Amino acid sequence: MCGIVGYIGKEQAAPILIEGLSRLEYRGYDSAGVAVFDAESGSLAVHKAKGRLQVLSEQLHGGADLDSTVGVGHTRWATHGAPSDINSHPQMSRSGKIAVVHNGIIENYTELKGFLQSKGVPFVSETDTEVVAQLIEYFYDGDLLQAVGRVLRRIQGAYALGILCADCPDRIVSVRKDSPLILGWGEGCNFIASDVTAILRHTRRVSYMEDGELAVLTREGIRCYNHLMQPIDKDVVTIDWEMDAAEKGGYEHFMFKEIMEQPEALRRCLSPRIRNGEAVFEDFSLSEDYVKTMNRIYIVACGSSYHVGMVGKYHLERLTRIPVEVALGSEFRYMDPIVDEHTLVIVISQSGETLDTMAALREARRLGGHILSIVNVVGSSIARESDQVLYTWAGPEIAVATTKAYTTQLALLSLLALFLAKRLGTVPEGDFQAMLAAFKELPDKMEEVLSRRDDIQYFASQYFHHNSIFFIGRNLDYALGLEGSLKLKEISYIHSEAYASGELKHGTISLIEDGTLVVALSTCDKLFAKAMSNVVEVKARGASVLALTVESRKEEMSHIADAVMTIPDIHDLLLPTLGVIPLQLFAYYVALMRGCDIDKPRNLAKSVTVE
Ligand code: AGP
Repeated sequence: MCGIVGYIGKEQAAPILIEGLSRLEYRGYDSAGVAVFDAESGSLAVHKAKGRLQVLSEQLHGGADLDSTVGVGHTRWATHGAPSDINSHPQMSRSGKIAVVHNGIIENYTELKGFLQSKGVPFVSETDTEVVAQLIEYFYDGDLLQAVGRVLRRIQGAYALGILCADCPDRIVSVRKDSPLILGWGEGCNFIASDVTAILRHTRRVSYMEDGELAVLTREGIRCYNHLMQPIDKDVVTIDWEMDAAEKGGYEHFMFKEIMEQPEALRRCLSPRIRNGEAVFEDFSLSEDYVKTMNRIYIVACGSSYHVGMVGKYHLERLTRIPVEVALGSEFRYMDPIVDEHTLVIVISQSGETLDTMAALREARRLGGHILSIVNVVGSSIARESDQVLYTWAGPEIAVATTKAYTTQLALLSLLALFLAKRLGTVPEGDFQAMLAAFKELPDKMEEVLSRRDDIQYFASQYFHHNSIFFIGRNLDYALGLEGSLKLKEISYIHSEAYASGELKHGTISLIEDGTLVVALSTCDKLFAKAMSNVVEVKARGASVLALTVESRKEEMSHIADAVMTIPDIHDLLLPTLGVIPLQLFAYYVALMRGCDIDKPRNLAKSVTVE
């Protein structure tokens, strides 16, 4: 939930740190700070400020004010201690000798803080991170790595740490447990970062730290150690996507860019997987026998990825006739899930770092499940801990509100459902080929919807002033409504909820009154008549209805709804993947008209790496 970056080399560190932090702000933007070694004074110079990175950058003239070639930086999503200058990172030890930047949560910080205070150590912040800095100094006797090792044996929780010590300014020490941290290998310089985008301008050669590992970075190289402090070698991979993929490319917002990129993202995701009339998953690790003995499928995810699972349940059960449970990552461990060696556990995550989802993955593995993950970030923690990973290849997704990751996840899960059904012999060949053909036409139909985005913008202009909006639908449209409602909530701050249309009359319809806006999703043809009656039902109670349906049903729906959004007709299997586009655009335009911060909504972060 925070962003970390570190640099040691021959160039001025502060500008590199600030530029790196600017690419990590999507991870948290309550405050920012840097610590560099000031050779003149022989001590650490620390600058930090509440608010966006821009505040700090302006104070430091982009970092030009600081003369140093080694430092660490941090952009914060507050967990312990409100956003403030003093609670910003880097957090310092009492003497100011040690600076720490941290992503994660130290779960036993209260106990450790009490111990240190009993030893007379003064604290200045409300953060859990300060405990780490103070504890390192408490154990420090001249060997920084050993002091860090002693601290690691005492702290519990999730942490990615960057540590600087004034006594040994020729190195940075980094540690990783449950929060992502990568190493960047340069020429005469080396880096740490929460993700690749922060350092891609400087090096494409990276290593992914594993849980419990430590690293010591100098200008000459990087030494890595396992949790027993034994030296280890790390694989170095070369990142092959371009930096501009993580740039706005002329769009006003990353979110709009990523909405518009979806047809291309879907082509990248699907075309290598649909060949010669077959769904093809390279080196698929599930054997024919295993697939035939699968007794249950669990889908585990959070947020929008969970909504992908809600759609996937309908597809998987209908096509494979295998029971499917969809569970929230944060709930899975506490529900005594029924998982055994015949259970396929599908873990869905854009970032591959969501701690709730990772915790669920580990519990499912403990219970014997086979872990298949659908992930966007290559080399992410969830990907690395899965038995099989299907990458969405959507490219970097920077906006906090996911769009192209959602649609590529959903398309991939839908294709997987078709692939499994074929192997199980539960789908007639004609139906199989019809669905496969639908995948091929999906990107073009997405482009068609995007080409009519002005219509959605008009609807947003009619409804952006509402303060409570319902999304109703049945079956796939209900699952789609969950995502439409979340998109709207998270960037426009309008209260919204998705409701199963048929369930409305069992209580919640009491909230419908004159002028209530109801977005009625009615793309499922077999349930269209029911959807129409639900529109009449809420209209009778004064609601304004913005409907979403397919082209072939527009005329009928226009007679009863106040406004109608449409998508081209497409096979049921892909209705939600196509139907979500107008809802993404609606949320985007409404938020824009309400003057909200599109890419960095309040209280949110792109990757939720705390529980
Ligand atoms: C989606 O718009 C949200 N930003 C959020 O719900 C997100 O989907 C959720 O935090 C899960 O993230 P993940 O896919 O990276 O695991």
